Amino acid sequence: MWRLFCAALFGLIVLGGPSLSQGQNPSGYGQAGGEFDIKISRVPAGELAAAKADKPPFGPTPEILAEGKAIFLGRGTCFQCHGPEGKGDGGAAKVLPIQPRNFTDPRFNKVRTPGEMMWVLKNGSLGQTGKVPGTGMLPIVGQFLSEEDGWKVLLYERSLGNGQ
Ligand code: HEC
Repeated sequence: MWRLFCAALFGLIVLGGPSLSQGQNPSGYGQAGGEFDIKISRVPAGELAAAKADKPPFGPTPEILAEGKAIFLGRGTCFQCHGPEGKGDGGAAKVLPIQPRNFTDPRFNKVRTPGEMMWVLKNGSLGQTGKVPGTGMLPIVGQFLSEEDGWKVLLYERSLGNGQ
């Protein structure tokens, strides 16, 4: 669990640092609730269609959501940054210049597909599009979680915004 957390902080300093120093600070930089623009996909243009076509292999049944919640609050360590209720206000969020996603905001599910979220779980949000600075959101699926567990936890995250 701490391996992921420490790796994330390392990534923030090494990967997030340079892009932030280039004057690309988001409008919400350093402010409570200061998420960077949700309308900008984190997936590079060339990979966007494939990412959007990527669908969860199962639906958000109560069992799947319960497993996703357990990962979110447990070995996935998502709560450290995204907060115990997924509001983006975890203890570690205080040191992050770009705030973690608030999954209780229903607007997020409208602009983001599950496949785009899976792309971020596999690749991180490290500024690949050039439109958003690199963030502390590091690759998790393939490193710390299986793809199946990744789908479970992201379906749980989407359920917090009352949409699938
Ligand atoms: C070290 C802190 C940290 C941890 C731990 C973390 N996240 Fe994140 N996460 C972030 C930040 C910061 C963002 C905002 C990135 C952005 O705006 O580009 C984010 C954004 C996201 C997004 C949205 C990306 C998008 O398309 O806008 C998803 C999905 C996500 N996280 C899932 C997870 C899951 C699932 C876990 C646990 C397995 C997790 N995160 C753990 C910091 C973290």
